[in-house]
Amino acid sequence: MYNTRKLTDTVSCIGVNDRVTPLFESMWPLPNGVAYNCYLINDEKTALLDTVKLGTTPNFIETVETILDGKKLDYLIVNHVELDHAGEFRTILERYPEVMVVGNAKTKQILECYFGELKSFFEVKEGDEISLGYHTLTFYFATWVHWPEVMMTYSKTEKILFSADAFGTYGTMDGGVFDDEVNFDYYLDEMRRYYTNIVGKYSKFVQKALAKLEGVEIKAICPLHGIVWRENPKRVISLYDNWSRWNADEDAVVIIYGSMYGNTAIIADALAREISKLGVKDIRVYDVAKTHISTLLSEVWRCKGVVLGSCAYNAGMFPLMSHLTEAIIHAGLKDRKVALFGSYSWNGGGVRNLKKFVEETGWTLTGEPLDVKGTATQDKLTPLTELAKAFVFHK
Ligand SMILES: Cc1cc2nc3c(=O)[nH]c(=O)nc-3n(C[C@H](O)[C@H](O)[C@H](O)COP(=O)(O)O)c2cc1C
Ligand SMILES: [Fe+2]
Ligand SMILES: [Fe+2]
Repeated sequence: MYNTRKLTDTVSCIGVNDRVTPLFESMWPLPNGVAYNCYLINDEKTALLDTVKLGTTPNFIETVETILDGKKLDYLIVNHVELDHAGEFRTILERYPEVMVVGNAKTKQILECYFGELKSFFEVKEGDEISLGYHTLTFYFATWVHWPEVMMTYSKTEKILFSADAFGTYGTMDGGVFDDEVNFDYYLDEMRRYYTNIVGKYSKFVQKALAKLEGVEIKAICPLHGIVWRENPKRVISLYDNWSRWNADEDAVVIIYGSMYGNTAIIADALAREISKLGVKDIRVYDVAKTHISTLLSEVWRCKGVVLGSCAYNAGMFPLMSHLTEAIIHAGLKDRKVALFGSYSWNGGGVRNLKKFVEETGWTLTGEPLDVKGTATQDKLTPLTELAKAFVFHK
């Protein structure tokens, strides 16, 4: 199978690239595909940690058989039941009917609601140990990162953390599998987008999981998606730590607007120019109707400064801006500074509702929102200079 690589003498990474699925969870675009990883420990006793999404490869079972080289599979450890990882669960049980499925009480409940009653299940509690011979495995529960049953398996022997979805990324593995084999710059945006789309809402639980791992020596991190970290696992831990604390780039500004006939768009560009004149270099402007919400969420997560603009629409915001603001509320992102603008013809609605949104988030509103009636002519845009100052200089 493509991308099958050895992390150590006894630990194999089995990765499957998916360049077919257009939308992850039927929602999040995958322009660069996604990889599903699982891991096989070939010790005195053998253990498969998770599987892959059903149908992503025709030869999953052959790969497992090849690595096992005639041995039987003793354990199937399920760190996460979501079907992009438990997809081949039944295939494994059919091929190795004696296999002992390992998970926690919640794992069992969720597995059984997909695959029926399990004949052999070994329930672990946090901190329990299983010896495979050379490897001693223990378990850290990562409850709600991002499902209730999620746990991480840790080899005390080789200091390897099998981390479930945590530390994962979108993007296929195009030849390189380990962090020292890839150009991470290519993956950074995709990793943040993955984080914000899939895990971001559970940031508090990510912090809980990270707290548990503090003091645990980690030589390698094996997530269920994308890059396997063996050279610099601290780097990915630090990224997840920052994202889950809602830390942002202090000097970065994202401007997102919704505009039907171009007036709100004119304001967006004029405000971007004013902000730029104050020395800000990292400014990105997006049309909410053109750029997918998955990217916009990721950008809002990246930037400390968020500027939102909406034309009025049926006494509310432009519907796609509404969608974005709902997603931000849902994700619970905190601690951003914000400026607002919009356009209307009679009673408004865009800016009025953006203000309500800001109140709900607890973000800091800077300056006086500018709502322009009718054509966005130059004279109506004069207040943008002050708005930009209030926004940029707010610390
Ligand atoms: C479907 C629709 C609904 C609208 N609803 C409102 C509204 O409730 N209140 C208002 O003041 N203007 C409303 N407008 C007018 C627009 O908000 C106004 O034309 C605005 O300047 C458009 O900005 P844009 O050029 O950025 O699209 C509506 C326009 C459309 C097409
Ligand atoms: Fe998941
Ligand atoms: Fe996943």
